[in-house]
Amino acid sequence: MFKVSAKNLFLLSLKRFLGTSAALSCSSSSSLPLIDCLVKSLGLPLESALSVSQKLGARRNGVERADSVIKFLRSCGFGKAQIVKLVINGPSLLLSNVESNLKPKLEYFRDEIGVSDSVLLGAIAGNSRFFGRSLDSYYKPQIDFLKKYLTTSNALDIAIKRCSWLLTVDRKYLLEPNIDLLMKEGVRFDDVGILMLYQPRTLVTKVEKMASAVKAVKRLGMEPSSAKFIHCLRVMLSMNESTWHKKVDNFKSLGWSQEECWSMFVRRPSCLALSEEKIRRTVDFYLNTASIAREVIFGKPLLLQFSVDKRLRPRHGVITVLRSKGLLKKQNSIVKPFQLSEKMFLEKYVMKHLERVPHLMEMYRASTAA
Ligand SMILES: *[C@@H]1O[C@H](CO)[C@@H](O)[C@H](O)[C@H]1NC(C)=O
Repeated sequence: MFKVSAKNLFLLSLKRFLGTSAALSCSSSSSLPLIDCLVKSLGLPLESALSVSQKLGARRNGVERADSVIKFLRSCGFGKAQIVKLVINGPSLLLSNVESNLKPKLEYFRDEIGVSDSVLLGAIAGNSRFFGRSLDSYYKPQIDFLKKYLTTSNALDIAIKRCSWLLTVDRKYLLEPNIDLLMKEGVRFDDVGILMLYQPRTLVTKVEKMASAVKAVKRLGMEPSSAKFIHCLRVMLSMNESTWHKKVDNFKSLGWSQEECWSMFVRRPSCLALSEEKIRRTVDFYLNTASIAREVIFGKPLLLQFSVDKRLRPRHGVITVLRSKGLLKKQNSIVKPFQLSEKMFLEKYVMKHLERVPHLMEMYRASTAA
């Protein structure tokens, strides 16, 4: 209790002090100018500014450093809110030397590696440790390591954008052991690269978690050397165990057996990544609106991924009209119109019938826009 009120008292007098006059800025207490600087240039609340300055301790050139760091970050394109977040998460950033520390790192990523500005700013904003790492002993070997797997010109940029931890995570503890484990199991080098590109987050999960996911996918009969293996793995690792069970239970409640869930998962892993709500709506549409049997959906799990509002319902509307006018061939597959590309669907089911059904295009357009 005493501590809190003493602090409040201090804050109150600080507020008065900072509010009084600029002439007082050369104060005998060396932390006050820094607090003043943080409040004025970043709009930090007094309490946060106080806490930041306490973490930094008293430095003779603290204010000059902080001031030049803030100016530099702004010149790079960071907004106030982003700088505040960085400073709160890692106050020591404010004491960095712009010329010898911050600038060379930015220039390395931007000019030598070719990371785009927006990706770089995002990576820095999301990692308060970004500037704390050494360029030569940390970042350069890290980038060399990543580039072994991310070989095309913008792959590195894309992967960093998806998971900026790739830059700052200690690769000896996470990336390397995970990749070693996968390769020992027989996952191909190129597939590791694909995983790093499409779902880099997977490779920075805990090694034990990776090991148990690998085991689980193998138990389903997948060979680590097959291209599908990493896709099963990344879907499985994208959620925790209870979410996983909920998704399986959701399928079961819609009539799938446990074995059918597994079979569908290994054929099309992304089915298990879809939300329960999405699955329910889609299955409901096929069963009750389009009169398509559950077995057909089970046989073609890709069907689950289509959007009810943007694809299925509009196309079903067209099919219903054509059918009512006797314009569909008897042997026409019931799911084919849903599977075709937009262009092919328009050609085969809309354009072809415009003479007989002039309003078909208009009707289709209106329902896709709805
Ligand atoms: C699992 O993940 C879900 C969704 O992200 C979350 O709501 C839930 O709390 C998590 N459960 C556990 C046990 O961590």
